[in-house]
Amino acid sequence: MSEIFLNLKKHPIVIAIDGTSASGKSTNAKLVAKALGYVYVDTGAMYRTLAWHCLQKRVDVHDAKVVAALCRKWKTSLECVEKNHLRAVHLLVENYFPEQEIRTSEVSAATSVIAAVPKVRDWMKKKQRECIQFGNLVMEGRDIGTNVFPETDFKFYLDAKLEERTARRAADGVHENLAARDLRDSQRASAPLMIALGAKVINNSAMTSEQTSQLLLEEIRRLMPVEK
Ligand code: DC
Repeated sequence: MSEIFLNLKKHPIVIAIDGTSASGKSTNAKLVAKALGYVYVDTGAMYRTLAWHCLQKRVDVHDAKVVAALCRKWKTSLECVEKNHLRAVHLLVENYFPEQEIRTSEVSAATSVIAAVPKVRDWMKKKQRECIQFGNLVMEGRDIGTNVFPETDFKFYLDAKLEERTARRAADGVHENLAARDLRDSQRASAPLMIALGAKVINNSAMTSEQTSQLLLEEIRRLMPVEK
């Protein structure tokens, strides 16, 4: 897919939702995708899948050259699956989607290490842009508005207080050092986590997911070009 900028009149719409770990990106991106009938893309799951694959193959995730070589040879495909009224893109590894396996704290820690490798990011960006073959997208991650689809007008950045985010992860049974992961994600040289120019920032520390997703939908409707 060529790196042409999107013309919203001719191309699918991409809603970019970036933000810190456990800031509610997945929950809200899914609610917005369902409400609009758009396809949901969890780019974190794509990075997690590569990290999981490295751990399976006993590759040292700190060795950028080996990780990049593994990524280059990787046999993957994208598929769009409908489940509970939500269409979502899955990155398959040899026809398998490791849905549960990628959610452990060991995989989380390895993911932010491999996500700092520039060749991995180039590979992921290409795959993520290919997702527009499935239609209009709600894509969540760390660099969607800054790097993957910088041309979209629909950019959001979610955040919440560290204690609140840590409590949310703990409620899911996952205990991890979110501050360390956010720091690694924000300080890497290649496409670091940051607020995209023009993004609407939403701090949802004191908000429910219904309130957050309603706010997102209001803003999206306000920005949506009127059909002539
Ligand atoms: O959203 P998540 O917690 O599943 O993401 C896991 C890791 O993947 C996160 O620590 C940083 C990395 N990531 C990234 O660098 N760029 C993205 N677009 C998405 C995730």
